[in-house]
Amino acid sequence: MTIDRVAVLGCGLMGSGIAEVCARAGLETTVREVDDDLLEAGLGRIRKSLGRAASKGKLDETQVDEILARITGTTRLADLADVDLVVEAIVENLEVKTETFAELDRVVQPQAIFASNTSSLTITELAAATGRTDRFIGLHFFNPVPVMKLVEIVRVLSTSDETVADAQEFVRAVGKDPVLARDNSGFIVNRLLVPYLLDAIRAVEEGVGSIEDIDKAMQLGCGHPMGPLTLLDFVGLDTTYFIANIMFEEYREKRFAPPPLLKRMVLAGHNGRKSGRGFYDYSDR
Ligand code: 3HC
Repeated sequence: MTIDRVAVLGCGLMGSGIAEVCARAGLETTVREVDDDLLEAGLGRIRKSLGRAASKGKLDETQVDEILARITGTTRLADLADVDLVVEAIVENLEVKTETFAELDRVVQPQAIFASNTSSLTITELAAATGRTDRFIGLHFFNPVPVMKLVEIVRVLSTSDETVADAQEFVRAVGKDPVLARDNSGFIVNRLLVPYLLDAIRAVEEGVGSIEDIDKAMQLGCGHPMGPLTLLDFVGLDTTYFIANIMFEEYREKRFAPPPLLKRMVLAGHNGRKSGRGFYDYSDR
């Protein structure tokens, strides 16, 4: 199957990035948000990101206009009826996601593939809300989507080989490199990354080094682009707390258990860059 028309559900940090890479790859892209304000904010995020690429000389003004012309915004699921692929990137809430997929299943053409960008819920649970479990798959992108090359493709027991092949082709068409992962909580990246990030918080709790020195150590000692505490602020402490709890629930292993400092920071609203404060202060940005 050729994927020409894509719908992206949710135009937050991840959804706007996914919509951008789809439109940049020449695909007709419809983004759906729950209300006009969120939709406008999401489209604004895409415009800003394209503007950034243009200011660096990676795109010219005509290309930016062409890309934006391929993106349609809507608040209605019914407008997605004719798409070939739906990529869901809405709130990480099982009930909201399953309700949305059940409704989509009624309105979107039967041959279309459904994908979820969930980072912590199991794809199997989401697929079960639809009557197209053979055309259901996980497509897990990474933040910032326009930059990070990886997409984890997650098949469930019922996903057909054709759907996996179509998903691989789509991922390559949008300029990303796929890996195949089993439908275990955290897939490959978060399974390895989350315990590392939680351990960095434990290192802060134990006073192993200062926040700055822990970050500097991993940047300069291991060549990581960001130290773990900067990365936590970047991903969001609330998001990490949420993912860690789900992974702990699944594996019941201490390495996935959120440390007390993480919980306290989230309760205090220190959610990282987006809230102006996390391990570092972003209030002046
Ligand atoms: N959108 C678009 N482009 C962006 C961007 C954004 N939000 N942020 C940075 N860029 C681009 C810049 O334009 C620049 O492009 P160029 O090299 O072609 O000029 C390039 O990325 C590098 O950016 P900067 O020079 O501004 O800054 P850095 O060199 O510090 O790079 C970074 C920024 C790419 C974010 C880098 O620090 C990095 O790779 N950090 C690690 C990110 C990471 O680990 N992400 C995965 C998080 S885990 C996840 O998403 C899973 C989830 O389930 C939790």
